Amino acid sequence: MEGFHALIFLIILLYVISTAQYATLGIQPAASDRAALLSFKSLVDDDPFGALSSWNNGSLHYCRWRGVSCGRHHPDRVTALDLKSLRLAGLISPAVANLTFLQRIDLSDNMLDRSIPEEVGSLRRLRYLNLSVNSLGGTIPSSLGNCSNLRLLNLRGNNLNGEIPPTLSRLSGLRDLLLNQNMLQGTIPDSLGNLSSLVVLSLDNNNLSGAIPPSFGSFLSLKTLAIQSTSLTGTIPPTLANLSSLNMLLLRQNKLHGEIPHFAELPFLSRLDCSYNYLSGTIPISLGRLSSLEYLSLGMNNLTGEIPPTLYNLSSLKTLELPYNQLEGTLPSDIGNALPNLQVFRMYNNQLEGRIPASLSNASKLNHLELSANAFHGTIPSSLGALQSLSWLALAINRLEARKPNEWSFITALTNCTSLRVLDLGDNLLQGMMPKSIFNLSTSLNILALANNHISGIIPTEIEKLINLTVLDVSGSDLRGTIPIEISHLWKLQRLDLSDNMLSGEIPPTLGNLTLMDKLYLGSNEFEGAIPPTLSNMLMLELLNLSNNRLSGSIPREVLSLSSLTNFLDLSHNLLNGSLPLEVGNLINIGTLDLSNNRLSGEIPDTIGKCTILEILYLENNLFQGSIPSSISNSRGLKALDLSKNFYSGQIPAFLEELPDLKYLNLSFNSFEGPVPMKGVFKNVSEVSLIGNPKLCGGIPELHLPKCTSDVFAVKHHYDYKLKII
Ligand SMILES: *[C@@H]1O[C@H](CO)[C@@H](O)[C@H](O)[C@H]1NC(C)=O
Ligand SMILES: *[C@@H]1O[C@H](CO)[C@@H](O)[C@H](O)[C@H]1NC(C)=O
Ligand SMILES: *[C@@H]1O[C@H](CO)[C@@H](O)[C@H](O)[C@H]1NC(C)=O
Ligand SMILES: *[C@@H]1O[C@H](CO)[C@@H](O)[C@H](O)[C@H]1NC(C)=O
Ligand SMILES: *[C@@H]1O[C@H](CO)[C@@H](O)[C@H](O)[C@H]1NC(C)=O
Ligand SMILES: *[C@@H]1O[C@H](CO)[C@@H](O)[C@H](O)[C@H]1NC(C)=O
Ligand SMILES: *[C@@H]1O[C@H](CO)[C@@H](O)[C@H](O)[C@H]1NC(C)=O
Ligand SMILES: *[C@@H]1O[C@H](CO)[C@@H](O)[C@H](O)[C@H]1NC(C)=O
Ligand SMILES: *[C@@H]1O[C@H](CO)[C@@H](O)[C@H](O)[C@H]1NC(C)=O
Ligand SMILES: *[C@@H]1O[C@H](CO)[C@@H](O)[C@H](O)[C@H]1NC(C)=O
Ligand SMILES: *[C@@H]1O[C@H](CO)[C@@H](O)[C@H](O)[C@H]1NC(C)=O
Ligand SMILES: *[C@@H]1O[C@H](CO)[C@@H](O)[C@H](O)[C@H]1NC(C)=O
Repeated sequence: MEGFHALIFLIILLYVISTAQYATLGIQPAASDRAALLSFKSLVDDDPFGALSSWNNGSLHYCRWRGVSCGRHHPDRVTALDLKSLRLAGLISPAVANLTFLQRIDLSDNMLDRSIPEEVGSLRRLRYLNLSVNSLGGTIPSSLGNCSNLRLLNLRGNNLNGEIPPTLSRLSGLRDLLLNQNMLQGTIPDSLGNLSSLVVLSLDNNNLSGAIPPSFGSFLSLKTLAIQSTSLTGTIPPTLANLSSLNMLLLRQNKLHGEIPHFAELPFLSRLDCSYNYLSGTIPISLGRLSSLEYLSLGMNNLTGEIPPTLYNLSSLKTLELPYNQLEGTLPSDIGNALPNLQVFRMYNNQLEGRIPASLSNASKLNHLELSANAFHGTIPSSLGALQSLSWLALAINRLEARKPNEWSFITALTNCTSLRVLDLGDNLLQGMMPKSIFNLSTSLNILALANNHISGIIPTEIEKLINLTVLDVSGSDLRGTIPIEISHLWKLQRLDLSDNMLSGEIPPTLGNLTLMDKLYLGSNEFEGAIPPTLSNMLMLELLNLSNNRLSGSIPREVLSLSSLTNFLDLSHNLLNGSLPLEVGNLINIGTLDLSNNRLSGEIPDTIGKCTILEILYLENNLFQGSIPSSISNSRGLKALDLSKNFYSGQIPAFLEELPDLKYLNLSFNSFEGPVPMKGVFKNVSEVSLIGNPKLCGGIPELHLPKCTSDVFAVKHHYDYKLKII
């Protein structure tokens, strides 16, 4: 009986306590929870999965509505609202604030918009608020600073703007604060440093300015600090180097300057990313103390000096990226033994020198090795062939040598790398015949770039074995012979660059079978014969350069029908003859058209006026005649026009002075006559050349042309007048 009385007493006591709580907080009891939920539902204007369809069913208690949980001690009070990923659209009702027992709100990954109701700030019991991945706008309510029990505040991936309210610094129990991927502005409040329980702080992808508050050095439990892609300036506060629990420090892509601070021993730091900033000075020796570091990225800065040897103590490193700095010195010969876990090693665009260490092959999981644009010399170590995972090998723009055939043996070794996708050895000192073994490289190879070396011999027919090639660049070498028809079997090719060699014979018509081709460069060789009309099958072709060859015959109208050509079409310096086909007007997206230095004749077809995006038109040194078609005035963006050394006649059309961007006009050595316009490009002698047209007159005095007789003026005025009427 004693026990029973005690129990009754306890129940009564609990009731008194809870009602007292209602009384003190001025909150109406349980009955209104249902009304608040219905208010929430009423402002959801799209619910494609019918998630809230149970939310009005008279027979079902609201504590059993989908996503609603109620308390154990207060069975009528809503404690959690879990409605994530239901594509709910509409706004969040301020009435949720009436659910005073709420501990948890998860409305993440919906399509809720408008602002976060200020009233949410009155939810004193709230521990978890996840509104991430919605379309919420407006500012973060400063009242959230009143939710003193909040452990998690996740507002990631909304359209929140305004500043971070300093009141958030009152949330002393907050462990996770995620405000990333919004449009927050202003500076980060220094007082956030008071959030001494923080474990995760992410402010990535906002428009924050100002500096990182030094007070952030007091987050002794912080594991992740992510402030990337904001616009922060200032230096990295040295205090951050003391955050002893830190796991990840991510400061990529800001405008931070100054030196990288000296790090204390941070036993848990595994990821450090300060890339894409304006950091200068040397890499601190103290980085060598970060014994758990797996990922170190300091690229795209202005770091100088040598790589501190202590970095090679970091045997856990998997990724080491220091590209685009001004680092000097050599790589240690035992690097592969010191960093046995290395997978990604990116050092391109620095001033490193010395040899490529053969020991890299001991980092057996290495898959990206990118050392381009440095000053490495010596031969390429064959040991790289032992790297089973190697997929990306970029050693371009160095002084690497292969003079004797055995110095090419690395290629044979690389045939063991069955995952190789990219091999870029361009701009080095590789000489001699392309070793046949190159065609035994993995069929997974996508990019083979050997440009600007001294590779001689022919392109072997075995090239067809590299069936996965999308890019083949052997430009700027000493290749001879013809293009093997087998190249046409590389059906995935998107870019083929054979320019600047001594290749000869005809361009194989079967090249047209390469229908994914995007850029085709065959310029500066000794190709002859006609341009194959089949090239017009390359329906994705953006750029075609066949210049500086001995191609003859007329320009195939089919090729001019490639409306995909946007970049440029360069057929200059050949022996092409005949007239320019009307189809030139199909090049509606072309930016540069260079047909200069051929034997083209006849008039320029009016259809050229359909090339409205044309910026550069070079037709000089041909046999063209007639007048300049007025349709050219449709190319409003024309910047350069060269018609020199032809047989053009008639007056210089006045529309040329109206083209706003025209900065280069060469009409010399033709038979133009009459007055020279005075405005636009004609105002500046350095932008216009008219010599060798004896019948021209007028123009600005600096042109030193004879004065025009009055009746010629009259003609010009008349023309001007007509043009204006049009
Ligand atoms: C929420 O509470 C306020 C004030 O206590 C009251 O005026 C309002 O009607 C309530 N809203 C709903 C939907 O219950
Ligand atoms: C109410 O809910 C019960 C149980 O889920 C269901 O069987 C009934 O059809 C619902 N009634 C209405 C009117 O939606
Ligand atoms: C919050 O919501 C997002 C999106 O649904 C989810 O990825 C995340 O795990 C949730 N929880 C926390 C603790 O942020
Ligand atoms: C909640 O926060 C706001 C803004 O920070 C403040 O003005 C208000 O007094 C607070 N409300 C309560 C009940 O503490
Ligand atoms: C919060 O931080 C500010 C500035 O960093 C400091 O002046 C203030 O005393 C701190 N407040 C609390 C409650 O710790
Ligand atoms: C970022 O903020 C600056 C002012 O601090 C403002 O001028 C700029 O327009 C903002 N950019 C975006 C994308 O909101
Ligand atoms: C880092 O912590 C050490 C000891 O914990 C302290 O002596 C030093 O002043 C701190 N440095 C910074 C920059 O806060
Ligand atoms: C890089 O540093 C050099 C001097 O060390 C300085 O002259 C240069 O302006 C810096 N460049 C950038 C982009 O900060
Ligand atoms: C780290 O590297 C330096 C220089 O290479 C060396 O003197 C030192 O003993 C190394 N420390 C550890 C802990 O390996
Ligand atoms: C490549 O593989 C062959 C045969 O499997 C082997 O003899 C050779 O040593 C390997 N080369 C390298 C560099 O690992
Ligand atoms: C071509 O590459 C793709 C993906 O890069 C790969 O799945 C495929 O196996 C490769 N084909 C050959 C013949 O290696
Ligand atoms: C090119 O394509 C045509 C027809 O699509 C086919 O007959 C011919 O064999 C192909 N030639 C080559 C070299 O692939």
